[in-house]
Amino acid sequence: MPYLTPTYLIHLDPRDMVAEALALAGQIIREGGLVAFPTETVYGLGANALDAEAVGRIFAAKERPANDPIIAHIAHIEQMAALAQDIPPQAEALARAFWPGPLTLVLPKRPHVPDLLTAGQASVAVRLPAHPIARALIEAAERPIAAPSANRFSRPSPTQAEHVLHDLSGRVDVILDGGPTPIGLESSIVDLSQRGAPRLLRLGGLPLEALRAHLPDLRLPDLRLSADQPAPAPGTLLKHYAPAAEVVLLRGHDEASLRAALRRLAEERLAQGQRLAALLPDAWAGWLEGLPVQVVAWGSDSAARGARLFAALRELEQQPIDAILACALPQAAQDGLDMAAWDRLLRAAEGRFIEV
Ligand code: TXA
Ligand code: MG
Repeated sequence: MPYLTPTYLIHLDPRDMVAEALALAGQIIREGGLVAFPTETVYGLGANALDAEAVGRIFAAKERPANDPIIAHIAHIEQMAALAQDIPPQAEALARAFWPGPLTLVLPKRPHVPDLLTAGQASVAVRLPAHPIARALIEAAERPIAAPSANRFSRPSPTQAEHVLHDLSGRVDVILDGGPTPIGLESSIVDLSQRGAPRLLRLGGLPLEALRAHLPDLRLPDLRLSADQPAPAPGTLLKHYAPAAEVVLLRGHDEASLRAALRRLAEERLAQGQRLAALLPDAWAGWLEGLPVQVVAWGSDSAARGARLFAALRELEQQPIDAILACALPQAAQDGLDMAAWDRLLRAAEGRFIEV
């Protein structure tokens, strides 16, 4: 039953969920439909992970290329073994340490897992989310739920039900609205499917510091993006998370030169007649004082900045703005969540940034 129109939006209080709404959403998943739901990271676009036809509807709704595999979400740690085989002890240890939570494990897949889900790869990505609505939905569906972020392909990930509606209205049967997602950045992805050291495929909501404490030999992705480098995970393409306006990034070693460079850049672009916004850590929100630039206070710490990033990009693109200027903290001052946010901004800017 593809593309029921209109899309139904159901409000659910995560602390007091309506059983009938979850039962209905679970039934829609079992029957091959699409349900968007909140996780602690971002909203997901869910379908029965074991039904290739249903998974196909996710690709169609998002206009996502078929070579980009999708994460299977589970509600209990035991379900991992039903999707994956030859699970290394490191995976069990990570699952026990960080699930439920913003961590995805890539593991050798079992034969019955649809090739469409894994984009033909021999591995499957598995995650046990912490959000009560996500877990209740997976339980109501009585099977693992395939779910990419619920945005159209290459757009910023959705952190509110309204973002899902904006991108996918008429393309998803039901949206469960559980309010804004608390982490706001997608899960961290660790590949344990290969022989050798585990590889981090995507920086995300589980900070690097926490992962490293468990996996001292973790290999990191190359963050210096360039168009001719293959993406580390199939879906981490260069142009991703992009709002409608141009994103211009600055990164510097010290605040004084960054501040001066930002001001110069803003003045140059204003002189060219551009309409500007700036996304700046709270402490820097006064840096463009006196200039007609719409400044968005991004957040006072890395958790707040992570939670706010995608929503801020989507808010700004609703306005008549030509470019969004954004500054990252000096690299030495960045923690794991700041690095994850910078990674998203870099992709929104198609890999380009100005080093000050
Ligand atoms: O936080 C999240 O992970 C959210 C919520 C909904 O759980 N999901 C999400 O899914 O961000 P998506 O599809 O937008 O990003 C998943 C990433 C993609 O880059 C994909 O290529 C990678 O995971 N991935 C999935 N399966 C994989 C596999 N078998 N091997 C390598 N990478 C895989
Ligand atoms: Mg995505």
